Amino acid sequence: MGKIILITHQKGGVGKSTLTFNLAQNLCKNATVAVLDFDLQGSLSRLKEMTDDFDIIPYQDSIDLINDLEYNFIFIDTPPYLSNHLPKLIQIADLILIPTKAGILDLLAIESTINIIKFENKIEQAMVVFNMIKVNTTLTMDILMGLEEYNIKIANTHISDLVSFTRSVLVKGIKNDRNAQNQLDNLTKEILTTLLI
Ligand SMILES: Nc1ncnc2c1ncn2[C@@H]1O[C@H](COP(=O)(O)OP(=O)(O)OP(=O)(O)O)[C@@H](O)[C@H]1O
Ligand SMILES: [Mg+2]
Repeated sequence: MGKIILITHQKGGVGKSTLTFNLAQNLCKNATVAVLDFDLQGSLSRLKEMTDDFDIIPYQDSIDLINDLEYNFIFIDTPPYLSNHLPKLIQIADLILIPTKAGILDLLAIESTINIIKFENKIEQAMVVFNMIKVNTTLTMDILMGLEEYNIKIANTHISDLVSFTRSVLVKGIKNDRNAQNQLDNLTKEILTTLLI
């Protein structure tokens, strides 16, 4: 059975769909990959026709059927609100990624997502990924300490605010940007390690 990776954060615009797309694009070089789009606005689904390296599926079937899908990796992109599906999606996920920007308000907003994950007893499977970090800045201690109380894993790899990530969904991945590609490769490795692959 394939690995299910849920990307969630109830805050809009933190990079859920962009990160999902790029991780799927990176992994599909060596594996079969599907992205299930649970966002009714269907932002990734709109790219369906453009993408032939992996499948993008606007998902409307029962969540119970996801386990029967025959892919090595199944990414689930979620909408910017706490959908009713979330507890069940958290239950079936092998890994839960929570992309966030590094602002205080972004971190305050993360709490409700983390509380649901804790309620479902899946905090061990969850990992925060800092995204859109300004180039040449480091995370301040107060940001990292703010997360400490949640006892949640934090990815060592930080994803920078780079135009190649913005463009990636139009040009089918990172093109000619070593820095962005390295970050994506490092995060992919961390994900595979966390999944024990
Ligand atoms: N690492 C990055 N560098 C630069 N721009 C980024 C990065 N990640 C995302 N973006 C840009 O930020 C915006 C929001 O990203 P995206 O749509 O992926 O967020 P989202 O969390 O899926 O939003 P929503 O919750 O509304 O679905 C987009 O314009 C995207 O191109
Ligand atoms: Mg999105």
